[in-house]
Amino acid sequence: MDPVGKRRTFAIISHPDAGKTTLTEKLLLYGGAIHLAGSVKARRASRHATSDWMAMEKERGISVTSSVLQFTYGGLRLNLLDTPGHQDFSEDTYRTLLAADSAVMLLDNRKGVEEQTRKLFDVCRLRTLPIFTFVNKCDRVGEDPLKLLDDVEADLGLPCTPITWPIIRGSDLLGVVERPNRTLHLFHRQGDHGQTRAGVHEVDFDSPEAAERLGDEIHDRVEEELYLLDAAAAPFDREEFFAGRVSPTFFGSALTNFGVEPFLRFFLEQAPAPPSRGTRQGERVDPRGDAFSGFVFKIQANMDPKHRDRLAFLRVCSGRFEPGMTVKNVRSGRSIRLAQPQQFLAQERQKLTEAWAGDVVGIHDRGDLRVGDTLSANGDIDFEGIPSFSPEHFARTIVADPLKRKHLDRGLRQLSEEGAVQLFYSDEVAGPQALVAVVGPLQFDVLLHRLEHEYGVPARLEPLAYKEARWVTGPEEEIRRLGRGYDRSLVRDQRERPVLLFRSPWARRQLEESEPEVTFHAVAPDV
Ligand code: G4P
Repeated sequence: MDPVGKRRTFAIISHPDAGKTTLTEKLLLYGGAIHLAGSVKARRASRHATSDWMAMEKERGISVTSSVLQFTYGGLRLNLLDTPGHQDFSEDTYRTLLAADSAVMLLDNRKGVEEQTRKLFDVCRLRTLPIFTFVNKCDRVGEDPLKLLDDVEADLGLPCTPITWPIIRGSDLLGVVERPNRTLHLFHRQGDHGQTRAGVHEVDFDSPEAAERLGDEIHDRVEEELYLLDAAAAPFDREEFFAGRVSPTFFGSALTNFGVEPFLRFFLEQAPAPPSRGTRQGERVDPRGDAFSGFVFKIQANMDPKHRDRLAFLRVCSGRFEPGMTVKNVRSGRSIRLAQPQQFLAQERQKLTEAWAGDVVGIHDRGDLRVGDTLSANGDIDFEGIPSFSPEHFARTIVADPLKRKHLDRGLRQLSEEGAVQLFYSDEVAGPQALVAVVGPLQFDVLLHRLEHEYGVPARLEPLAYKEARWVTGPEEEIRRLGRGYDRSLVRDQRERPVLLFRSPWARRQLEESEPEVTFHAVAPDV
């Protein structure tokens, strides 16, 4: 009877097309939540016909913000937080990682670490999240496995410890060896495009049968590779993994299911249960504590145009959540009754009966909540806040009707407080006009839609040529001096913190390297 100890809350970090949807499906397949892979994608497509999400979402055929998959697997309750990757990459994708307790880094075996993986990895590192690595698409020729792992280490500074090792013949993945117990998993194709579990034969790698099945040449080669791996790196160490200093690594193919099962088994054994969480007061909240607490990491607006409600995503951190309970919003001091809370399965919302630390609950919000708010039974703790992440798209908002200026300012302010966009104020431009900035361009579409439908302000955006922002700390006069460059501008965020906007990552890197007195932060420092 330890509901918290059974929870595993995690996210998959990857670049688009690495195979996240395919791997997610296989998790559901092996966990028994679905019987034939292919149904998640099919449902995703068919749901658009009946979806009552905002019209814009329908037009573009993508989900505006991410959802949560909850399912039971091997006696555990898994919460898989979706991190949208394609056009819908946004600040919410980063924020979702603040609600996860571990991450699976999914790599394409030809491409290794790609841009989006790196950005998401940086957020995981910020939180010292334990990271599993799955090298996908090994059913077709890719980079040499040792070279790939070296590249990951050089790129991210994260050593990878292979737990399984691939056995490749030409362009075929014959199987993997599980290094800790030297079990050889030999695969055979099912001929059903990975809809059902892979056919696997397990045998001791050091047995005569293994040598016979692989053939002496391949067996000898793999034996030597295993010997080299054993000599090169220490065995897997759970403490190092929990400290985010090493990543247990797996090879396989989500498409054919090869190598997926040993990965999942290891994941179930090693993924951390919900840990304690830090507060601004300095103490840590025990996830098994009696008093309820949680924090809002995302707010999704207007999912149902008929109700124009908003859905706040609450990560439970302690206590037992029950529908209808009354909690305190620590920031505003107000009590809120949490009526009609919801749980998620893909994009279907379901009624919820109870939730524990690690779970994510959707609660209706009429504008009382903000990203980062702590909700708790006693109202006496405040979780560490949710930081702002460097935006990559910047614009000025233009309204045709000057009488609507005030409405615009109010709308922008409220939407930024909610966490939908960031606002920056320029020292040079007179007046209160703010620059709006977002991580993903879809946030701009959402902004315009909401300005028009919620605030009655039809507006358009004039893009600005900046590509990155960095919060800067250091001597004020130095910061002002740095703001005077042709390829950058000095602005302030809503909390008056100085921020430099750059026209290119290159310009930023150059300045960063030449100015030791000033520190550059990709994530807003909590000062
Ligand atoms: P994403 O969610 O990370 O964007 O990736 P997704 O799973 O949609 O996979 C992207 C493409 O890569 C898909 O091909 C998918 O079938 C393929 N893929 C995923 N895992 C593997 C794998 O292990 N091996 C190989 N060879 N391919 C893999 P597609 O042609 O774009 O789509 P589809 O027609 O197959 O759905």
